[in-house]
Amino acid sequence: LSPPQNMAMRPASLRLLCYRHGRLVLARQPLGPACFRRLSSTAPLRERDDDEIPSAKEARPGLRRLLGLAWPDSLLLTGAGASLLVSSGISLSIPLLFGQVMDVALAGDVDPEMVPMAAAGLMTLLASQSVLVALRQALLSVAGERVSYRLRRRLYAALLMQPLSFLETNGSGEALSRLQADANAARGAVTTSATTGLRALVLSVGGVAFLTYLSPSLAGATLILIPPVAVGGRMFGRRIKAAQKEVQNRLAEANAASEWALGSLRGTRALGCERIEEEKYAQKLASAFRAGTGVWLQQAVFEGGLSLAANATVVIVLGLGSQQVIEGTMTAGELTSFLLYSANVGFAIGNLSTVYADVMKAAGATSRIFEIIDSKPDPTATPIYETERLIDTSRPAGEKSAGFLFESLRTPPVLNSLLRSVPMEADGASERVFTAEAVPADDSHLAGFSTGLVAASDEAFIDFDRVYFRYSNRKGSPILENLSLQVPKGGFISVCGTSGSGKSTIASLLLRLYDPDYGEVRIGGKPLREMDTKTLRRHVVLVPQDTSLFSGTILENIVYGLSDVDDERFKLASSIAGVDAFSSSRTSFPDGVDTKVGDRGSQLSGGQRQRIALARAVLRMPSVLVLDEATAALDLWSERIVLQGLKQLQEQGTTIVSIAHRPTTIQAADSVVVLDEGSVAQRGSFEELKDAEGPLNRLLKDPRLRSRLR
Ligand SMILES: Nc1ncnc2c1ncn2[C@@H]1O[C@H](COP(=O)(O)OP(=O)(O)O)[C@@H](O)[C@H]1O
Ligand SMILES: [Mg+2]
Repeated sequence: LSPPQNMAMRPASLRLLCYRHGRLVLARQPLGPACFRRLSSTAPLRERDDDEIPSAKEARPGLRRLLGLAWPDSLLLTGAGASLLVSSGISLSIPLLFGQVMDVALAGDVDPEMVPMAAAGLMTLLASQSVLVALRQALLSVAGERVSYRLRRRLYAALLMQPLSFLETNGSGEALSRLQADANAARGAVTTSATTGLRALVLSVGGVAFLTYLSPSLAGATLILIPPVAVGGRMFGRRIKAAQKEVQNRLAEANAASEWALGSLRGTRALGCERIEEEKYAQKLASAFRAGTGVWLQQAVFEGGLSLAANATVVIVLGLGSQQVIEGTMTAGELTSFLLYSANVGFAIGNLSTVYADVMKAAGATSRIFEIIDSKPDPTATPIYETERLIDTSRPAGEKSAGFLFESLRTPPVLNSLLRSVPMEADGASERVFTAEAVPADDSHLAGFSTGLVAASDEAFIDFDRVYFRYSNRKGSPILENLSLQVPKGGFISVCGTSGSGKSTIASLLLRLYDPDYGEVRIGGKPLREMDTKTLRRHVVLVPQDTSLFSGTILENIVYGLSDVDDERFKLASSIAGVDAFSSSRTSFPDGVDTKVGDRGSQLSGGQRQRIALARAVLRMPSVLVLDEATAALDLWSERIVLQGLKQLQEQGTTIVSIAHRPTTIQAADSVVVLDEGSVAQRGSFEELKDAEGPLNRLLKDPRLRSRLR
């Protein structure tokens, strides 16, 4: 098969061919494992459905995971469970005590000295119960925080290591909802649900035992009512759930609409569409309201019915019971105890069914989370820099800082010493960061591309060799098609072409954010696939097309990730990138580089943001600097400063690949490559190309552009 043909094949049939023939040769190249990874990495995640209760069988793996999650905190949870059992036992005895007190009081032969003693005894019992409740709550809260900390952290780490195509396929909203809703559900299951369930179990089983002990016949009459109520409740519950879900979906739509409009209010206002957005939101809200009315009515009927059943039970028990009291087979106190127990049992059974649903849902949520945690990380995701901020400097070097989370939770000293005995991490993954040393920034690479690279001909230092590439989530013909492109060492080339012609894709391939489907990208003669990605990304630095700043100061944004930046290097980078040209203006930036940039850098102009991103890259002293439209938002004056800075970098040995469509930026490069339909249409020096017939010439014929060149 020639490459264009096999590119048009569906991944499934490609895979099939490989299985059939063992070794499939694509245009004289065997299909490597990397190709399979790309074909299989973008399977969409399972749809999440908040209200679906998985069956016991489906939930089993998730339940196992939940137990595994809770395991490191088993000491805390056992403590909570024990205090719960004791306090439930006390709760269970109270109705009986009440009844006995009543019988004694009704009999009238009370020893006056006994009253204060009985009161004191009851008070002690109740007080110790309260202490146990508080203890349980404290232990559970700490365990819950720790579970969700561990889970969120592992999930987030896994998300950051996913192939880029993962977020492109699933969207970041899905990832965020797992981080929030699913993690919360899992945490709730190991803490609240588990204990509510245990308590409900003790209270219902114990309660039924007491009921039977007090009066077997009455107990039989009461318990007969439970099955029909339970069945009715379940049927109604299902209907209500379905309707509630409908309401939630519509509310979610309303929220999505409002999020979009508020998030881009500048655009909404500029287009004068505030009223339209208001109306859209109102309509969505109204439709949620209409869907909700049904739910409320059903719920009202259901709750009314439930209370009728409960009251009927009371009446029946009262009627039958008073008859037994009159007959003398039961005392008034026992009847009172009986009534109290039956109320308890009713509540407990109600709780049991909700807890069951919650735990099953949490099992589903947990397996969804582990779907991501268990997935293989993208082999090209290689973190280079570590943060220092998380290192707990308050303790001597080397000591494990398992106390970190406890201190941040401000638990009282007594609890704290108890909790310290609990290991913080089951998997040891997070210890790494708490004790990690900051990776020193490596300056040695300025000398050249030596580490891990073999010398190649200087003419083809960067070498795209017959590259085919297509985004795996996009069908159709490849974005890059038989692209061959060489850049000499220390060269400065400009890549231009219409938008959508694949320029940014070339930049992504150079950083190995993706692997080509066919063909090879080499730097210094070494294929990127074989190169240590960490080394690669230390040496090849990209200034992306959509600059992303975080809220913080200009300085923080520039040194992002680096830990030991000296003043001189910082000044050099900010002058090369033209940052000091604006940040040193005392009138508009009185705080200089300590000025805050606002959310995503919104308090700066596009050109200022671009220059900060450029400084960020220059500060890393790359051997290869890749600029993706990095001067597009600059005025001619700042562009000139930046271009002069780039020339300065080039003199120091940096190879520059500049993606640009502005004639002034294109002109600054040593040579120009024009892309068309995924391959090189034209290449040469700017002087040669500007007069030759071809795409660049056509672009430049526009008189307005031409006049700018001078
Ligand atoms: N992450 C992606 N997933 C799918 N398609 C993409 C992705 N990024 C870019 N494309 C598509 O690839 C083509 C080339 O994009 P790009 O390299 O960004 O072009 P440009 O030359 O404007 O920088 C476009 O048609 C674009 O729609
Ligand atoms: Mg682009």
